[in-house]
Formats: sequence, structure tokens, C-alpha cells
Amino acid sequence: MRSEHGTVVTEQRLTERSSWKQLMRHFHEVRGLELRQLFAQDPDRGRRMALEAAGVYLDYSKNRLTDETVQLLVALARECRLEERIEAMFRGEKINVSERRAVLHVALRAPRDQVILVDGENVVPEVHRVLDRMGDFALRVRTGEWRGHTGLRIRNVVNIGIGGSDLGPVMAYEALTPYVDPGITLRFVSNVDGADLTEATRDLEPAETLFVVCSKSWHTQETLTNATSAREWLLRRLGDRSAVARHFVAVSTNAEGVREFGIDTANMFEFWDWVGGRYSYDSAIGLSLMIAIGPERFREMLDGFREMDEHFRSTPLERNLPVLLGLIGVWYANAFGAETVAVLPYSRYLRQFPAYLQQLEMESNGKHVTLRGQPVDYQTAPILWGQPGVNGQHSFYQLFHQGTRLVPCEFIGFCRPLSPLTHHHDLLMANMFAQAEALAFGRSAEELRAAGSPEWQIPHRVCEGNRPSTTVLLDKLTPRALGRLVALYEHRVFTEGTIWGIDSFDQWGVELGKILADRILPELGADGALGHDSSTNELIRRYRRLRSTA
Ligand code: F6P
Repeated sequence: MRSEHGTVVTEQRLTERSSWKQLMRHFHEVRGLELRQLFAQDPDRGRRMALEAAGVYLDYSKNRLTDETVQLLVALARECRLEERIEAMFRGEKINVSERRAVLHVALRAPRDQVILVDGENVVPEVHRVLDRMGDFALRVRTGEWRGHTGLRIRNVVNIGIGGSDLGPVMAYEALTPYVDPGITLRFVSNVDGADLTEATRDLEPAETLFVVCSKSWHTQETLTNATSAREWLLRRLGDRSAVARHFVAVSTNAEGVREFGIDTANMFEFWDWVGGRYSYDSAIGLSLMIAIGPERFREMLDGFREMDEHFRSTPLERNLPVLLGLIGVWYANAFGAETVAVLPYSRYLRQFPAYLQQLEMESNGKHVTLRGQPVDYQTAPILWGQPGVNGQHSFYQLFHQGTRLVPCEFIGFCRPLSPLTHHHDLLMANMFAQAEALAFGRSAEELRAAGSPEWQIPHRVCEGNRPSTTVLLDKLTPRALGRLVALYEHRVFTEGTIWGIDSFDQWGVELGKILADRILPELGADGALGHDSSTNELIRRYRRLRSTA
């Protein structure tokens, strides 16, 4: 059915859907199946249960599922109208119901000639106008045409922003380090902890530094505080207020806020309310990244996003990579009751990827009511976490192999390295493949005995196996590959959110903390009575006694 805003909304409780009930019955039949057994019964499983599209190879064979499981998951997706929801998103319908907004990050990478209407207006020409402006500005900075107030070339760019105005650009900058212009130092300031700004600017020359202040709303206290302190830092050294115009640009949807702050709106790069913060780094929010890697590389990245978008929109659910990844997420969260999912990139360059995905998955799908505001009676987003593989192997993987919890793992690797130390790459990838194998098949008491293990040690050494994992393999980490990978995860989150029947595009849960912090802030420097609970009151009193008054 359709809501008053024309949005398709779920009308039946998820747990009452026939496909859900069938899936859960099926779970009780297959929950005891062992991956060893499944692979022994079907020698072709590793080839059959893998998909390739848009340059991404997805091996889902080491998951605790059968062909029937996949069929039932797809049937569930159909009953939840996933196909219609995908179309609704691409058509610009207001599927973000609690904010009455369209969800159109896919328009950010649409080709120039595509038409995507929001309230009757084609948004694609605007997207390209801003991209062209960004490209022009990035080139001027990179070539030295855009100079600082004293005439010096810009050598440092500091991105100020938080959440979606930080995590995407940081992640992509780290991921694309080998493509970065070595003449430009890019730093990121997000935390309102003064140490962030102090450390980021400690060794920078103000006359050579450009601040890119990113805030969709231009209301975010952390960002505005950091931007104000950055401006003071600049003016302390350069003196002249007019210097701000050459050293500050803004990325925002709020022109008035930007003007009030003192940044000329001629130096503002806009985006739109139909781009969610956590889906925005391929918008103007990626400006600092574009300065670092250049407009051409940035556009290659957009091409990669678009390839995955097209695959997601046009491929039947059974062979659709983001859909499969999302449905496997639902399978573990709701059938197995897995609390977490670990994302383990075997690439140093993707070290910020889990942090980026945390916001994408947990801010999108960490919801407790359906689109119609009904409480859910099932789990929604898992706790997503992770860090680059190999390092993790020497730390927390022990729990994966022999702990008591089920942690579905997602391995991400590349066939070709970026480092000139190419001989390291085989070792890196051997480890990734080995971990997935070890998790799935383990090592039995018999195998240990045959290998000569002393009997008393065997219980300690046995690895039961049957620990599920999915492997995502790409050719090489390029801007295009990164775009494909990020879009894969964006659409995976969309798929899960659609099954759970929730609004993946709002984030009301973050409001309360902000309101309370606003209330507490003036109390920290005052003496008056406190009206919080006894714990908060006591913490504030202690802080008041010991705080620095400098
Ligand atoms: O507090 C959460 C949040 O609203 C995120 O959703 C967003 O990415 C971040 O804050 C930053 O918001 P803004 O870009 O408006 O400063």
C-alpha cells in the first residue's frame, strides 16, 4: 500500500509474513548442517555459490545456507517488495518517510543525460553543475592557480566535518593514498576534542592551508566549534580578516548558515536534502578528496558507483550482489541471532572502511520501529566492526575460531597489490584465504591426532569449524573499484532495511544526546543547582571541582 506521501510502506508485520515463517521453519531444519558436510555433498559448491558483477566477485559458499535457504530469502525479499522499493528509490520517491525526503545518492553518479525528478524537477543537471565547479576548484588548487591570502601556494587541506561529513572522505582518502598528489597534505578534523585540531594543524603553515568545512546542516556544534577555532588559528598568524576568503570553503545545504559564519557563498559547494550524510562522500562532501586525487580519478570513482547501481537496479534478486549480501545479513541476524558482523579488509588502504561502514549500517538500520512507527519484534542492524585482516589474526580472531559466539565474517581482498613490494601480496592473500578455510572447516581431533598432537592437548587445539564467512574479491584497489565496493555496501544496507521494514535514512536516535549536551554545557562552568539524576549530577560536580579554568 501507499502512504499519504506516495511512498510504498509495509502493511504486514514481518514476522507474520508467510515467507518469514517458512524461512524460520527451514532454519530449524538446517541449523545443524555443517559446512564440511555441505562441501562434501556438493564438490561444485564453491563455484556455484559465487557471483560476479561490476568487477566484484562475491563468494557466499562458506555460509551456513543451502540453495533452498537462498530461494526462501529471495521469496522474503519479494514479499517485502524489495524490487518495488529499489525502483521507488531510483525514481526519487520520498522513501525516507520520517523526514519526508527522497533518497537519491544514486543521482550523485547518474550520467549527465539521465532524468531523475524530485518534486517535478530534474536533479541531474544540478549534480553535474556542482561536480564541474568542484572539478574546476580542485584543479585550481592543484595547479597553484588558487593561492592563499599572501600569494603562497596551497599545500595543506584540512577537512572539518563529522559523521558523514568526515568518515567517507577519510575512508576514501586512505583507500586511494597511492593516487594522491604528493604535493598536497590532507588532514581531517572531526572530534570536538581540541586535540584533533591542535594535532592536525601543529606543523602546518597557515598561509599554505585551506580549510574545507563540511556540514550538511551547518548546525553541528562539533564542526562549527572546530571551524571557528581554525579561523582563529588562521587569523592569529595572518592577521587580516579578508584572509578567510582564500583559506575557507564550505560544503553544505545551508547557504544562510555558511554566510553567517563568514564564508562567501561563492566559495560554497552545495548538495541537497535528498543526500543522506552517510551516503554523501561522492557529493561535494568529497571535495577535499577530489583536491587530493584530482577530478579525473574522482569521476572514475563515480563510474564505479554507477556500475554497481545499475547492477543493483537491473539484476534479478537471485543474482544481485548487494541483495545477496543483505539477505545473508538478515539470515544471521534474525535466524541465527548473531549480534555482530566483522568486516575484515585484507588491505592496509581500507583500514578506515569498517569505521565508515559502522555509520552506514548502524546509523541506517539501528532502528526500533517500522516505517509506520510500529515497534519491531525482531532484531535489526547487527553491531558492525572490524579492522584490516592479518593484524586481527594476531588479536581477536582466536574468538572467531574457538570462542562461543557466532561472528559472521566478511573478507575483502584484492588480486593485485598497490605496494611495490609485490611479493608480500601472496602472503597477505594466502592468509585471507586460509582464515576463511580454517573458519569453515576447522581441525578435528582425528586430524590433530594424525598430525601427532599429544592427547592431553587435543581438546584445546580442536577448531570445530562451521564458522561462516563471505569473501569479496576485486582486481585492484582503484578509484573505480572503491566506488563499486562502497555502492555494494550502500545497497546491502538498503536491502536489509527493506526486509526489516524500517526507515534506513533517518537518525533520530542521535538527537537526545545533542540536546542533553547543550543543556549540560553551560552548567559545567557555573555553580548553580543541578537537576539531573544523581549519577550525572555527581559527575558534573566532580568535573566542576577539577576542571581546568584556563
Ligand atoms: O549526528 C549524526 C549526524 O547527523 C550524521 O547523520 C551526520 O552525518 C553528522 O551528524 C554530521 O552532520 P552535518 O553534516 O549536518 O554536520
